[in-house]
Amino acid sequence: MRRMQQNLRTPGPTPLPEAVRDAQAQQMVDHRGAEFGEMLAEITAGLRQLIATDGEVLLLTGSGSGALEAAIVNTLSPGDRVLAVSIGSFGDRFAKIAGAFGAAVDRLDFEWGTAADPDALRERLAAGEPYRAVLVTHNETSTGVANRLRQLAAVVRDAPGEPLLLVDGISGLGAMPFEMDAWGVDLVVSASQKAWMASPGIAIAALGERAVAAGATARMPRFYWDFAEARQWASKGQTPWTPAITVLYGLCVGVQRLLAEGRERTWHRHAAIAAAVGAGMEALGLRLVAAPEDRSATVTAAWVPDGLEWAPFNAAMRARELVIAGGQGKWAGRILRFGHMGEVGIDEMIDALERMGVTLGEQGRSAHVEAAARAARDVFEGATAPAR
Ligand SMILES: Cc1ncc(COP(=O)(O)O)c(C=O)c1O
Repeated sequence: MRRMQQNLRTPGPTPLPEAVRDAQAQQMVDHRGAEFGEMLAEITAGLRQLIATDGEVLLLTGSGSGALEAAIVNTLSPGDRVLAVSIGSFGDRFAKIAGAFGAAVDRLDFEWGTAADPDALRERLAAGEPYRAVLVTHNETSTGVANRLRQLAAVVRDAPGEPLLLVDGISGLGAMPFEMDAWGVDLVVSASQKAWMASPGIAIAALGERAVAAGATARMPRFYWDFAEARQWASKGQTPWTPAITVLYGLCVGVQRLLAEGRERTWHRHAAIAAAVGAGMEALGLRLVAAPEDRSATVTAAWVPDGLEWAPFNAAMRARELVIAGGQGKWAGRILRFGHMGEVGIDEMIDALERMGVTLGEQGRSAHVEAAARAARDVFEGATAPAR
């Protein structure tokens, strides 16, 4: 196997801090033993603080999409009316999962590259039969857009029929403001390879009281993802099935680091880094996809310049050991996506912008590499300067 040494700027998996790598190199423990139970308790207590919930947090072995499936099958029955709010390909995935298990899915789609409009959601929820659940993406990784979740949640809370609010928080949680209980989110999921700074393999599901209660009547088929089973085992400090122990070691350290930094500081750091990356890309001559008020703090998307082909451009960046992501679905080949979640600092961002700028130059574009580095640093320092 080749030794991996890249500036990895995909929106997950993210580069692992050294302390996480060390933790993940540890020997196995018995997942039915006391040490494992202590670790599970430490991670879940930390996550409850970071997500701001008094609800239950379950750690499931699988990727984020598994947790999206778990959210659906543990709260709904076939035939339930569900409104899927989608602003991109991950919103589409959540809707597809609900449909695959027999929910009657209506969609509220917004143009890719924009955020969901709370007024449009209010109107839709007021018209027609009430919904059993509303599905929302916190941070749409496919377009680099953050939804205004607090406002969307307030709209759902006021809606007829008291629908459940199920949130895909996979690429925003831990990096962007999120107050589960105060905002009235019933269920949110995330995944270890995102802002939590661990390897892929553990999905996180946080359940409020209404989500737990919904489980008692939900009739969608489930076995591996059954929350009742997971909750019962969690009460004994265990998981029902053999968990990804290595990833849990890493997640434990990731959570400790986020707690030590403090939620507001983490959110602020991500916002400052996003602003810096956006400014740097613009200085390179790239046009960002999202309007400033809709931009995500964890992933920045820009249009591939006219006349430049994504595949050779991407290959040339990879030859320079800069690894970013391309577009998904209908935007494949049209946009590039640059991830900045987890252990992110301005120096790695500038390094990546420089590699991108040099590559653009090689491809015949005039890219001002130094100007981009300066713009990114200035914006970052402006955003992080102590208040006078
Ligand atoms: C918002 C969002 N939802 C769902 C997923 C799917 O997660 P996974 O790839 O871990 O299944 C991702 C992964 O990028 C994501 O960013």
